[in-house]
Amino acid sequence: MQISLTPASAQHWTGDVLIAGICMGELQKQINAIQPIYAQSLIERLKAKNFSGKTNEIACFEILQGNTNKLILVGLGEANKLSINEFRNATALGARECVGNKGILGILFPWESCNSHEAGLAVLEACRLSLFKDLRFRSDPEVRKIPSEIVLIGLNESEEKNFGTFNPICSGVELARELVDSPANEITPTALATISTDLANEYDLEIKVLEKEDCLKRGMGAYLAVSQGSDLAPKFIHLTYHPKEEVKQRLVLVGKGLTFDSGGYNLKVGASQIDLMKFDMGGSATVLGTARAISEIRPKNIEVHFIIASCENMINGSAIHPGDIVKASNGKTIEINNTDAEGRLTLADALIYACELKPDAIVDLATLTGACIIALGDEIAGLWTNNDKLAEDLQLAANNAGEGIWRMPLHSNYKDGLKSLLADLKNTGPRSGGSITAALFLKEFISESIPWAHIDIAGTVWSEKGKGMDPAGATGYGVRTLINWIISQE
Ligand code: BES
Ligand code: MN
Ligand code: ZN
Repeated sequence: MQISLTPASAQHWTGDVLIAGICMGELQKQINAIQPIYAQSLIERLKAKNFSGKTNEIACFEILQGNTNKLILVGLGEANKLSINEFRNATALGARECVGNKGILGILFPWESCNSHEAGLAVLEACRLSLFKDLRFRSDPEVRKIPSEIVLIGLNESEEKNFGTFNPICSGVELARELVDSPANEITPTALATISTDLANEYDLEIKVLEKEDCLKRGMGAYLAVSQGSDLAPKFIHLTYHPKEEVKQRLVLVGKGLTFDSGGYNLKVGASQIDLMKFDMGGSATVLGTARAISEIRPKNIEVHFIIASCENMINGSAIHPGDIVKASNGKTIEINNTDAEGRLTLADALIYACELKPDAIVDLATLTGACIIALGDEIAGLWTNNDKLAEDLQLAANNAGEGIWRMPLHSNYKDGLKSLLADLKNTGPRSGGSITAALFLKEFISESIPWAHIDIAGTVWSEKGKGMDPAGATGYGVRTLINWIISQE
């Protein structure tokens, strides 16, 4: 998607479609600014439709004379309560009405009411990401007409340099979405390793893939236990972005990479959505999407590691039995009282490995618990961290991205729920507080002095119907938050 800016007013702009944001009480003024020739008749028709500029309101007009063929008006709510989120939602709403129109799309918002650089970028992202549709698996994909160029109307051309991150960010989100949408017969641990190697070659990242034997040598007994019931080989992936400059900070992202989670012998039955468990590599998709974007944006002085302990959780004669006791690479023993709590086992060894890099911070992302969905639904991810500054930084990064996040407690009393009769700990606590005990389990594998955050994306990885900027299916949640966070550490 091509982008450009024009300081011209809407009346002097020509294109194929125009999306204009309208605030409550400012109808007259804003419609006049679009096109005085038909402003009066348009205002009357808007009144007849009860359009007043409230959020989520939309009105579309085919225009026979004038400087655009189609006019899409979207409500922004009260002018004095405007934030970038209103711009984002209104853009997504309007962009969907553009489908069927090729050519040039103009977007006109009251930029002056927000930071125009941030607002412009948010609008561009909302536009491209809400128009995304994954057609890779159709044999005869529909020919989709969507705009090929976006013009931000009323912004000075000199601001264009501020939008250099637009394409890398969106490509990162789209990569994450495609990885999650892909079924488990396509995205296997080997496929993830191949895609990572291709990313490394294309974007100048360092890549290491540990094979099963390498992981055995490192004593990664928790991770390997999960993979042993699958015919597919595990792949432990480690990508590194090296800045050209001196390294002042080292950050690590870890993503859960279960390319399928059957539950193992604690098989997923009933309403447990086994058919969706291809998305259990959502954390790793977010990490790879972020890796792609970061390697294009190339932030200064920050080294970023991307780690994925990828495998499948399946059943065969070698699969783990409920009750098996295994040893993680730091020597801790774990009783696997539930084979469906497999993500935390893979993450245990991945987090130990991450700590050995002696980083300034570790953030892991995982579709870890159904309990997190019960707690926060599908628009808000859970955040657990041992560090208040990291909590603040991640919350700010998520807010700026318009991605929902909520800090949850690492309530240490609940650790009792993970006590095992025989081993150091078991992998599953009681049903209540299930996302908290999962986070407490992970904390057992983190060196205390390292700032660490765990983000449970079980709910946010997938959208059943699509909402806001998210199409139905994979959302690519977390990529924009992580990019914001990494860049903010520069
Ligand atoms: N991948 C699932 C979590 C999940 C469930 C994500 C539903 C998205 C939708 C995870 O491996 C899992 O099975 N967790 C169990 C843990 C339980 C056995 C303690 C769960 O949440 O039921
Ligand atoms: Mn599971
Ligand atoms: Zn899982």
